[in-house]
Amino acid sequence: MNAENLAILSEAIERFATPFYLFDEGEIHRHVAHLRSLLAPGVQLAYAMKANSFVLAQAARDVERIEVCSPGEARICIELGIPDEKIVISGVYKDPAFIGELVREHPQIGHYTVESLAQFDLLEQAAREAGHPIRLLMRLTSGNQFGITADEIKALALRCQDNPLLEFCGIQHYSGTQKTSAKRLKRELKGIDKLIGELRDECGVAVAELEFGPGFPVSYYDDEQDARAQQDELVVALDGLLAEMAFDGEVVLELGRAMVASCGTYVTKIVDKKSNHTGNYAITDGGKHQFVYYGNAMSMRQPPCTILPKRTEGQLDSWNICGALCTVTDILVKQLELCEPQVGDVLCFERAGAYCMTEGISLFLSRDLPSVVMRTTDGTLWPARNRIESYTLNTPRSL
Ligand SMILES: Cc1ncc(COP(=O)(O)O)c(C=O)c1O
Repeated sequence: MNAENLAILSEAIERFATPFYLFDEGEIHRHVAHLRSLLAPGVQLAYAMKANSFVLAQAARDVERIEVCSPGEARICIELGIPDEKIVISGVYKDPAFIGELVREHPQIGHYTVESLAQFDLLEQAAREAGHPIRLLMRLTSGNQFGITADEIKALALRCQDNPLLEFCGIQHYSGTQKTSAKRLKRELKGIDKLIGELRDECGVAVAELEFGPGFPVSYYDDEQDARAQQDELVVALDGLLAEMAFDGEVVLELGRAMVASCGTYVTKIVDKKSNHTGNYAITDGGKHQFVYYGNAMSMRQPPCTILPKRTEGQLDSWNICGALCTVTDILVKQLELCEPQVGDVLCFERAGAYCMTEGISLFLSRDLPSVVMRTTDGTLWPARNRIESYTLNTPRSL
């Protein structure tokens, strides 16, 4: 961690009670600009807001679209004033009442994805009842519960031709996260290109847009330079593959993890320590209910973590960093080399801007949800969310 980031963290630790998340707006802008610099000028970006809804307003300024997968996410967009035109309503379950309301009251919503034949019918009915057209992207399945088959897409594209209220815009495809293989991306794009050709030749349907989620990986366990270099390499490879496609319409890359992981830090304090015949244990006020690193189920890998204050004198030893839950699996890191850690020391886990704070079992033990601190581009730290008591959600109503 560089000196500037250390100073920011020190200020945040002084001002806010642990545990908390710190998200850096400036890093989002820098990183998105960097990603764009690796891509051809025409390639657009969509932010999959499930990765982190707290940085939505910041990310929305930098991207053309926001991918929204639930009524809750849509309500966050509306509350933050995200322009309807930027919004892509996606998701495997589209709540009928909510879709009806959205289509009726937000006629400018950019796109709706179609993930099943029933969703198509639902959207068709909503457009008919609202009396205005909507724009559709057909999600091509990658062989799981998401999306529809190529044949189904062709049939629905033809149905759109007969219905002036349904504009067939193109294809959406997303097959998973943390994908490291350019070969796999190539295979996927080849399949999409073939489908686009068939839609043109067999159905007379032109595809104007491809919204593609490459699932770019974030390398959580390498040093920062290596992690960034690995990501850059794949972005450049994808850019080359897109240029090779016969499809020459609009390309939108739908990103979550790779866009915002680098903006976040999770900060938790050591509140107790002990040693026994199995090793040294530092107990923190945070834990796995608040902080999940992809691919670290057994906590065997060393995530990027800085301890403050930095101690250099004393005995270097291995410490198991454990959280505040009543389960032996609540281990943040195993065998972290630390120099005589003390109660009150603070651990700062980096690359924690995507998914980390929402994928945990946050209601376990009725612990409070941590506060969220935002660092704005002018350097100000402000509480984007105060700590929230969760015990009320776990309390039965009195008779
Ligand atoms: C449809 C869709 N698009 C994009 C994303 C973002 O993926 P990632 O965080 O791997 O970039 C997801 C994540 O689940 C998704 O479901």
